Amino acid sequence: MTMTIKEKIEKVKKEKNAVILAHYYVPDEVQEIADYVGDSYYLAKVAQKTEADLIVFCGVSFMGESAAILNPEKKVVMPDLTADCAMAHMVNLDKIAQMRQKYDDLAVVCYINSTAEIKTYSDVCVTSANAVKIVKNLPNQNIFFIPDGNLGRYVAEQIPEKNIVLNDGYCPVHAAKTADEVRKAKAEHPGAKFLVHPECTKALLDEADYIGSTSGIIDFAAKDEAMEYIIGTEDGVLYELKKQNPQKTFHQLGGGMLCADMKFVTLDKVLDVLENETNEVTVTEELRRQSMIPLQRMLALAEQK
Ligand code: 13P
Ligand code: SF4
Repeated sequence: MTMTIKEKIEKVKKEKNAVILAHYYVPDEVQEIADYVGDSYYLAKVAQKTEADLIVFCGVSFMGESAAILNPEKKVVMPDLTADCAMAHMVNLDKIAQMRQKYDDLAVVCYINSTAEIKTYSDVCVTSANAVKIVKNLPNQNIFFIPDGNLGRYVAEQIPEKNIVLNDGYCPVHAAKTADEVRKAKAEHPGAKFLVHPECTKALLDEADYIGSTSGIIDFAAKDEAMEYIIGTEDGVLYELKKQNPQKTFHQLGGGMLCADMKFVTLDKVLDVLENETNEVTVTEELRRQSMIPLQRMLALAEQK
């Protein structure tokens, strides 16, 4: 009897003591076969702790790179090494140097959606799930938040007592949505709550019933009493939202939100890298040691009370 691709993946995974990690934005069928599905904070924690020999990371490059940095003992492969996050590159290194000159006590806070090189210029990493908590607890008064200007502005609004300097990076997927689209969706679905990711602009966040990371949005919808929601983040999260809440209705915002790079990940490519162990994520030892510091600091600070 011929095996399905999912059965083949399962078989090779067991033979190789491999683990499959997937972000909520990859295609539904990939989320379905993954051992762990989550937001970027959760996946970084899983990658650091796993005892599997081989990590197959289904997501974009900064995610696989962070896994390789945090767990050098393990081999990390990605189904498609060209799957990248546009925002991860939107930092001008000269500007970091200027900010360090300007403020003696500056902390450069780096969203995990960034390259390993950019992380080496930073004091601490954050994700959208822990950014407010970590920045609030830093001893520094002056913060340069990179690369995402939208997440940075949201964090700054929650912590008015600190001077948070913003960078002009943005997510092309989240930043493209407009408040008009939200108002139109609300008019079409009166009574639906609007849940939004902080990578969206202020105009959208001002319309929100809840603002949070992909996991935050999923947890909110599971615990909340409403039956209908408009979702202001990438369409991939609808898979988990519908799975956890089959009785509720979820609407995409406007024509939907698509991170094309996340959709580069397919089951065929997962099987291929599992079988052949190609597409290994490699980081030079020097880069790994330096970029690990802000990542480990994030993991430690995010756990603090
Ligand atoms: P989360 O950390 O909320 O999963 O978001 C990652 C991301 O890339 C959002 O665009
Ligand atoms: Fe990057 Fe935006 Fe895609 Fe998230 S949705 S991975 S921030 S490009």
